[in-house]
Amino acid sequence: MNIKNKKITKKNSRKNNKINKNLLEEIIRVDQAGELGATKIYEGQLAIFGKNSKIGKKIQHMADQEQKHITTFNNLIVEKKVRPTLMMPLWNILGYSLGITTALMGKKAAMACTVAVEDVIGKHYEKQAKELKNSEPKLKKIILEFRDDELEHYDIGIANEAEQTLGYNILTNIIKTGCKTAIAVSKKI
Ligand SMILES: [Fe+2]
Ligand SMILES: [Fe+2]
Repeated sequence: MNIKNKKITKKNSRKNNKINKNLLEEIIRVDQAGELGATKIYEGQLAIFGKNSKIGKKIQHMADQEQKHITTFNNLIVEKKVRPTLMMPLWNILGYSLGITTALMGKKAAMACTVAVEDVIGKHYEKQAKELKNSEPKLKKIILEFRDDELEHYDIGIANEAEQTLGYNILTNIIKTGCKTAIAVSKKI
């Protein structure tokens, strides 16, 4: 390789590293925000149903996994020195409110909320894993593991008659749109 080509390669690899760093920060920032939202939704639902009710036990199982997810991203935020989203306080309130509201609408609506959220988050993690390609293998492994958890939550929602909720399509579409908006905002702000 001549000197000129070497220089170009070095420049390109520097550029790639920069892209990777931005992408990495976006991934960690948005995932921390999403997992905070998820823990708050289930916290809100548990406040209505109680964790010892039949439905409460199912929700608690998912909430426990969300707790593991948020702890992982809280640690990554510190480890990789990523600025958290400024929207954290808002997602906190909106997540909890969504949990309370859907639980007050009934067990099926609470499960429809899970189906909507986990459908978006499952696909979101899938997309991130693809974007990472071969970089950050440790993070990629975490993302794929969490994706599987989210898809399990989705299945729990379906198995618990989410689709029988009155106005299922409207409700899930509203929640999905909200989640997608929250993802887009949390990446940047
Ligand atoms: Fe999660
Ligand atoms: Fe989840």
